[in-house]
This record gives sequence, C-alpha cells and structure tokens, in this order.
Amino acid sequence: MKIRHNVVIGARRRPRGRTIVAALAAATTLAMATAATAAPSQHGFRPPADSLRAYGAKVGLAIGTAVIPYDLDHPDYARIAADQFSVVTPGNEMKWETVEPTRGTYDWSGGDRLVAFARAHGQRVRGHTLMWHNQLPAWLTSGVADGSIDNTELRALLKKHITDEVSHFRGRIWQWDVANEFFTDTSPSRLNPDDFWISHLGTGVIADAFRWAHAADPKALLFYNDYNIAGEDGTNAKADAVYAFVRGLLRQHVPIDGVGDQGHLDTQYGFDGERMRSDLQRYADLGLKVAITEADVRTFVDSPDTQVPTDSLAQFAQPYEFSQMLQSCLAVRDCISFTVWGFGDADSWVPSTFAGEGAATLYDVNLNPKPAYTALQQDLRLATGVPHRRS
Ligand code: G3I
Repeated sequence: MKIRHNVVIGARRRPRGRTIVAALAAATTLAMATAATAAPSQHGFRPPADSLRAYGAKVGLAIGTAVIPYDLDHPDYARIAADQFSVVTPGNEMKWETVEPTRGTYDWSGGDRLVAFARAHGQRVRGHTLMWHNQLPAWLTSGVADGSIDNTELRALLKKHITDEVSHFRGRIWQWDVANEFFTDTSPSRLNPDDFWISHLGTGVIADAFRWAHAADPKALLFYNDYNIAGEDGTNAKADAVYAFVRGLLRQHVPIDGVGDQGHLDTQYGFDGERMRSDLQRYADLGLKVAITEADVRTFVDSPDTQVPTDSLAQFAQPYEFSQMLQSCLAVRDCISFTVWGFGDADSWVPSTFAGEGAATLYDVNLNPKPAYTALQQDLRLATGVPHRRS
C-alpha cells in the first residue's frame, strides 16, 4: 500500500481540524457514550465505543468499507478496518479475473483472507461482484473475441462461475452484488445493449444470474448494484430505469433482495440528499433492502501523492456530501448498510481514474481521519439519540 511511513499514524487519534459539523455536534445535549469500548462481538472483538461501527450498531445500520486484503499486513490499516467497520467488501478479490485467472484454476486466497479477517473481528462480508463487464479474465474475453467460446459455452461458463464462487463462500457472505452496472448513462436510461453479457446472452441473463446465485446460497442477500441510481445524475433517469427493472424482476419472482447504490460523488456536481432518500425509499417500498455500497466524494487536489484539496470549499463540501448520503440511508428503514469504497486516500481508485481529483475517502494519505470521518461519526452519534424505527 502507499501509506507514507515517515509520519506517525494512529486510527484512534482525534482529527486536528475543527469542523462546523464537529462544533455543532459538540454543542448538542446528547449524552456521550463514556465506555472506552463497545460490547464485544460474538467473536470477542470490542470496537471502540466512539467508532463508526459502534454507533452504527446502536441504530441498526452496518457500516462498511472496501478492503484490499493484502493491505491488512499493515497494522495501522488493519486496526482501522477492524475498529471502524462492521462490514467489509473485497475491492477486487472476488471478481472473476482474480478468482479464475487461468481457466479451471481457482484462486480464492484474497477472498478467503478477508473472510477470515471478518470472522476474527465480528464483521460481515459483502461479496462483490459476480457478473460485470469489467475485470473479466483474459482467457474468457479473448475466447469470446476469437470465436473459440460461443454463446452457449459462455452461458455455461457464467453459470459455473456464479455457482462455484457462491458455493465456495456459502454461509459467509451477507450480501452478494450479483449484477453490477448494466444501465446506460443516458436519459432515458435502459439496459445497455452493448454490455458484454447482454450483447452475447440477452437481457434475461440477469434474472438467471440471480437464480443461480440463490440456488448456491439461499441465505445470502442478493443485490443489483450500480452508480447514479439514486438521483445523482440530476435527471433521475437511471433511477427510474433501474426501479422499473427490479420491479419487473420481482413480478417474475426472481430472487432479488436488494438494490445497492454505489454513491460515488464529486464535489463539482453538487448533490441532492433528499432525492437520494426518496429514491432509496422507492426501492424499499417494493419490498427490497437498499444499501450504499461504494461511497466516496472526490474533489480536485494538488497531486496524487498528497491529495490536498485545491478548492477551499471542498473542506465543507466533502463532509457535507458524505453526511447527506449517510442521512439519506439512515432515513430509510430498509437501508441496511452504508459502505465506503476504501477508507484511505492512498488506496483510493479515484486519482488513477479521474485526472487531478482525489481526497475522496475518510482518511488522508497518512491514515489520519478527516472532517468527513468526523461528520459521519457525529451523524451516527446524533442518530443514537433519536427515536427511530429502523429494521
Ligand atoms: O492487479 C494488477 C497488477 O498486477 C498490475 O501491476 C496493476 C498495474 O496497473 O494493475 C493491477 O490491476 C488493477 C486492479 O484494480 C487491482 O489493483 C487495475 O489496473 C485497476 O484498473 C483496478 O481498478 C479497480 C477498478 O474497480 C476496475 O474497474 C479498482 O481497484 C476498484 O476499486 C474498482 O472498483 C469499482 C467497483 O468494482 C465497481 N464500481 C466502481 C468501482 C470503482 O471503479
């Protein structure tokens, strides 16, 4: 990992910056939790009482993060992952290209390692992801491209992949992202006819993927996962399309349990938290669970190494947008987990994907908590003092 080691880092160190959010929260009359640690999990692990996961537990909301399993060798990284989060998602290690790099030879090591870490720390696991157009093994995509794998064989390979992976992790995955990012970013939006899976196997393959996953682990919650599906696109077009699609799956009795909104935000576009809340509630009103699955808030920064925001408003916009996302989820009874897509800026996918942007996570490049962390911590603490009807 890229954490700089010339700086003392500490997961439990208080943030130095004093934010408006923190100041407001400090002024509340809510009683502070005074115990040093929360109740131990069934595996004996005790998170700090003021951690995100401890406050989340009090309001019935699981707080998650994407993890790079091999970064768990770094003690400071591992401590934050264990202390602050009650759910973990492998960033890449359950994707097809990682689990079957050579046809017929599985490598579960990354996923197994994260599952073991989760068990040791009383955490649950989100499995990510079974069917996506991206990060497919080269042997599969080149076989399809050169015609040596025809559509009949491709369908059989997909069924085997889903069955084998879900079976391998059976009983150890709380939520599976079965299908990921199938809709266009157009208005109106629709299932992308050019998607790798749809173009070869037709739109019905998505329903089949849910059926195959359910057969392999009937107790896992099965999710459709996508970005900009809770109004972040401004038009709500993608949310409308996904809503109609999952409603159709339910009418066909397809075993889908939930919708995951990734929650990748950017301070340059603004964000409507009320729209997110109402869109999440609309999925929930169908009888589905909902979750925020990959939250982060990027902004323009000085360099990929230091990731200091260049716009002074970012120090307000980032905590605000994280807070709005969390509050949208908290306001929906069936929003069962709020997951950030990695917790340290040094490990974020953002700088290598969006030129000039970064600082998208809760901790800086040296693993010091940022105002966005404090905002979520205070939101959760405040929520513990409010009568609620969350599931
Ligand atoms: O493993 C290779 C390594 O061998 C090689 O040396 C290195 C050189 O660049 O690349 C490594 O692969 C990288 C892989 O992550 C593992 O680190 C890929 O280049 C890189 O593109 C890949 O990025 C991942 C991205 O998905 C791919 O689209 C990110 O880590 C991962 O966080 C990101 O996650 C996605 C979610 O799955 C779906 N939603 C969007 C989200 C962000 O893109």
